[in-house]
Order: sequence, then C-alpha cells, then structure tokens
Amino acid sequence: MNQTRQTVHVPLGERAYDVIIGGGLLADAGALCAPFLKRSRAVIVTDETVAGLHLAALQAGLSSAGISSGAIIVPAGEGSKNWATLEHVVEGLLAHQVERNDSVIAFGGGVIGDLAGFASAILRRGVDFIQIPTSLLAQVDSSVGGKTGINSPLGKNLIGAFHQPKLVLADIDVLDTLSGREFLAGYGEVVKYGLLGDAAFFEWLEKAGPGLRDGDKSLRIQAVARSVAAKAGVVSRDEKEHGERALLNLGHTFGHALEAATGYSQRLLHGEGVSIGIGLAFDLSARLGLCSQETPSRVQEHLAQMGTKRRLADIPGDLPDADALITLMGQDKKVVDGTLVFIVARSIGDTFVKRDVPMDVVRGVLVDALRDRSAV
Ligand code: GLY
Repeated sequence: MNQTRQTVHVPLGERAYDVIIGGGLLADAGALCAPFLKRSRAVIVTDETVAGLHLAALQAGLSSAGISSGAIIVPAGEGSKNWATLEHVVEGLLAHQVERNDSVIAFGGGVIGDLAGFASAILRRGVDFIQIPTSLLAQVDSSVGGKTGINSPLGKNLIGAFHQPKLVLADIDVLDTLSGREFLAGYGEVVKYGLLGDAAFFEWLEKAGPGLRDGDKSLRIQAVARSVAAKAGVVSRDEKEHGERALLNLGHTFGHALEAATGYSQRLLHGEGVSIGIGLAFDLSARLGLCSQETPSRVQEHLAQMGTKRRLADIPGDLPDADALITLMGQDKKVVDGTLVFIVARSIGDTFVKRDVPMDVVRGVLVDALRDRSAV
C-alpha cells in the first residue's frame, strides 16, 4: 500500500506555504517545523482531548530536533470559540513569553485552528503560526486558507481575521483516534470538494469512500491531498473571498443555521451540518430548475452509503420551524446587503454563487425537510 507523503503548495506569494500530508508527521514535527522557528521553542495551543491522546508525541517530536515547547490546553468543542477562551489563550501566550518573532502551533481540530490562528493574528499585532490539524475536517479544510476566528452568540465565525499559517502538517495516523462520528463529520467537507468543482473526484469518492472511512491510509492520504489541492487552488485565486472562495461554503448557509438552532452543541457537529446543508443545497438547486432531479438523489445516495448525517431527521431533539431557520440564516456572515447568498449546482462538480434565490423556494425546501423529519 502506497503511503507516501504528499506535499501541496498553497501559492500565495510572500504568504505561500506547504501542506504536508502523510503518516508519522508528529514524530518528525521538530525537523519539519525547525525552518519556520526563529528560536528553538514554540507554544502549542490544543484541547483537552487532543492533549490526552497526542500532546506527548508532538512534544517528543519537537524535542527530537531540540525544540522546547509549552502548551495551553482549552476545553474541547465549539464552545471554546468564544471571547473568554480567546482571552485565556492570548494571555497564556503572553505568559509563555511568546515574542513577535516566535511561532504558535495550533494542534487540534477546526476549533483549535480557528481559535489559535486568531490569537496568533492579534497577539503583538500578529505572530507566525503552524497548523497541525488532528481532525479530518481540519486537515481537508479549516487548517488551509487562513480563515481564523471565533463565534458570536449572534452567529458563527462573525469575529475573525485572515491569517495564513506558515506550514500545515496533516498527520494521517492521528485520524485513527477519531470516533467514527467525528471522521464522518469531516467527510462532509471532503465530499464538498468533489461536488463543488470536481466531478471526477466525486466519482472517485463513490468508489473509494467506504475504504477510506474504514481506515485505508493510502486512500485517506489521496482524499486529503486532493481536497487540499482543490482548496489551495481556490484560495490562491481568491484569498479574501471576494468571489470564487464563496463556493467553499457549499452547504454552509443551511448548515450554520442548523448549528445555531442546535446551540453549537454535540447534537450537531459542524461537518454534520455541512453534510445536511449540502443535501438541502442540492434539493434547492433542483427546485430552482438548475439541476436534474436525479442530482440530489445521487448526492444523498453517497452520503447514505457513507453513513453520514444527511437529513434533518438525523438531528436529535426539537428544531425550530422553517421561518426561524431562515432568520438564523440571516446571521450568516455571507449575507450581503441583507440578501442571503446560496451556493447552488448545475450538476455535480458545477456550482455557482446565487444571490437572488426566492425565499419561498428556500422555505419550501425547509418545510418539506422538517415534514420528512416528523414522518420518520
Ligand atoms: N471553509 C471555507 C473557507 O475556508 O473558505
């Protein structure tokens, strides 16, 4: 089985960096990070779960290259993307005497990457940081592209900054400790890359998905590398999301509203909201007459084959009605002049941004999805 490491370059001029994907990267972290450290010390920001599983391995890897490290450990979960935890991290970095030329290591899933990245963006007006993502979602999406930030009670990711990492190390071995649920939540972001612009990748996933879900490392490396390459292309053409980058939000307008409706809790993980949101976005596209009726069915079939959450019926507990969900969508950061922006599809692999979606069609999608839910 080919488990060769792959490197994807993110070509952003003076902010360019590499994403290295493969096994054993924690053990080699010292040698890989050393070129980016101005002195042989770093501070790691991580969460309690990742610290328990992998912090010792990362610190051993760093120290094998003579790099000493401290750690700031925050509670796991989306709840840590708030002002209080940001203050704790920033003050902790200052207490660890992180200077303007030092680097922070963000070691965890999407929450840690966003939180530690934002702390790095504002600490001493910006210090370097390295992403070592430990969830599938973070490896394929959130660790690449420089979006950092925290949530507001009014909505997700409303406070933040673009701050590109200097290096991303996606250690595929670390994915072995994810629960099946966490892995599948991240898979929503993998399938997104096929659906939004690469029909051949989606076809590949239809065949390879079950194998990579069940632990095939070669398939996992290929899926992560292909997703990251797709993201690198988009980010290099539209770093600050003035156009094409918005496509990466396929499924997110619906998904963010569902996350808000479930209180950013364990009821619905971010990637699960994305998978369900992707299903709704394809349903919306078919209702708008943009794609064939078969297209949403094919998407749903693949999500069902993988066992991901894919319908509102898969969310436990009560949900608000369609109008309340639409109000929550209004808090989405992609709202422009009060108008909701949707990513819709002409076919698998062919998506575009649409700003004039009639809200009665959106309401119809949600009403029917909520009805299907009560029928289950
Ligand atoms: N996760 C979407 C983006 O990075 O633009």
